[in-house]
Amino acid sequence: PDLFQPERVNSKGFDLTDQPTLATIKVARARFRNATWTAGPLLAGTTAPEAPIAVTNPFLPTDSPGTVTHASAADVETALSSATPWAAAPAERCEILNKAADLYEANFGELFALLAREAGKTPNDAVAELREAVDFLRYYGANAPQTPPAGLFTCISPWNFPLAIFTGQISAALAAGNAVLAKPADQTPLIAFRAVQLLHEAGVPASALQLLPGSGALVGAALTSDARVNGVAFTGSTATAQRIRKTMADNLTPGAPFIAETGGLNAMIVDSTALPEQAVTAIVESAFQSAGQRCSALRCLYVQEDIADNLLDMLKGAMKELTLGDPWSLSTDSGPVIDVAAQTTIADHIAVAQSEERVLYQMPTPQTGTFIAPTLIKVNGIADLEREIFGPVLHVATFKASELDAVIDAINATGYGLTFGLQTRIDDRVQHVSDRIAAGNIYINRNQIGAIVGSQPFGGEGLSGTGPKAGGPHYLPRFAKVTPQLGGT
Ligand code: NAD
Ligand code: ALA
Repeated sequence: PDLFQPERVNSKGFDLTDQPTLATIKVARARFRNATWTAGPLLAGTTAPEAPIAVTNPFLPTDSPGTVTHASAADVETALSSATPWAAAPAERCEILNKAADLYEANFGELFALLAREAGKTPNDAVAELREAVDFLRYYGANAPQTPPAGLFTCISPWNFPLAIFTGQISAALAAGNAVLAKPADQTPLIAFRAVQLLHEAGVPASALQLLPGSGALVGAALTSDARVNGVAFTGSTATAQRIRKTMADNLTPGAPFIAETGGLNAMIVDSTALPEQAVTAIVESAFQSAGQRCSALRCLYVQEDIADNLLDMLKGAMKELTLGDPWSLSTDSGPVIDVAAQTTIADHIAVAQSEERVLYQMPTPQTGTFIAPTLIKVNGIADLEREIFGPVLHVATFKASELDAVIDAINATGYGLTFGLQTRIDDRVQHVSDRIAAGNIYINRNQIGAIVGSQPFGGEGLSGTGPKAGGPHYLPRFAKVTPQLGGT
């Protein structure tokens, strides 16, 4: 009974190979080339925020797209005490989330401008990001459950998908009827602010969705340690997830849901039967698109030694064709990394490899912006990667045919399990490897980024996340009311 699931199709997005479409995008963005935005807490009560802070453009330090005022301790209390689960019926929640999707699409020029100027997103990245955000709104809306909500959900998101993941978390929590306290990443509050404004404009009540910009240590910690919070959806690093889990265990009702989507040490195996052109395209996209700042990005490539010299020559050739530069430009393939701190961490990692003569190739580095030029580093195997390097750095190892199972064991031994890629033309090998690799999303003979809402649910296992997968059928039930465990009230 009461099944209302309307027809739902994923967003069509924009075809960037079509000249009229490119012209439309140029015109729509132009109004926002020099615009400035202000962001701050969006609360159901009175706000008493901190002093404004400038937000920076990772490509152009002289361009500030706006300012943000962080939520104060008083704001956190206001939000916690005024939050009210969304009482609307599932069909009405669906309608309002669909309206929000329409508003996102109608405001594409402004959102693309923000994605470029605040997050360093290229046009290609921005199109994909808007599509994913819109798909999340419509997918979770269409599946809005009848079950009672958990109550109050805190949603904490990263800067690398400041619209898509930010929207995905809150739209799921809202579709399930929760009140949401959303804390965006420190680096990307402006996009989050516009997204929440659009959700409010669509009809989500202010008491059901409040925005609290601020640091993880202050605002994030406060929103995950208050007993009035009934669940937390988090996307970010594994280390932060582990910290939040401990905080929740000490402060929240036992059994409160914790959905964490975290980092990865993602590998691809290319065997000697692979189609080299296809493999090289998949490698370049997986490792260097979005400046390697995707949790799904390829970090360690295993190439069978018989084809390694040829494949690496082709890979270097393909890297030379990439255009690094201003993410605003329609011809840019890859932009800067998010900030100076990220640039320094990645550059230090490359410097160690340089000192050990393990850098196989590095593109020339642009002079402006927090760039890390796409880099290839030789390793013996994935065990040499001590942690996730969150940028355009690809580690390369070779293997002999007889070592395939040892390679699989080494990949699994990292403890992460987010994405994995395989390039082969041997059908039995596809089955053999897929059966043994512990990874949430396995991609065969294609790139390993860009999961599609509704058809490729996305999420990892082990150190890469708790599940359930976002954009899939098991996600929404985690936002429903749970029975307290271990004597909780
Ligand atoms: P991060 O862990 O530094 O920060 C993520 C969020 O957590 C931010 O909003 C931050 O302010 C907040 N935070 C930090 N400390 C906190 C605390 N003590 N309590 C509460 N909140 C706190 O991650 P990041 O640098 O923003 O994002 C990059 C990471 O995210 C990478 O590891 C990447 O792999 C991961 N990621 C995973 C997925 C996925 O779906 N699995 C998607 C995107 C990014
Ligand atoms: N969902 C994003 C991807 O698949 C992170 O690349």
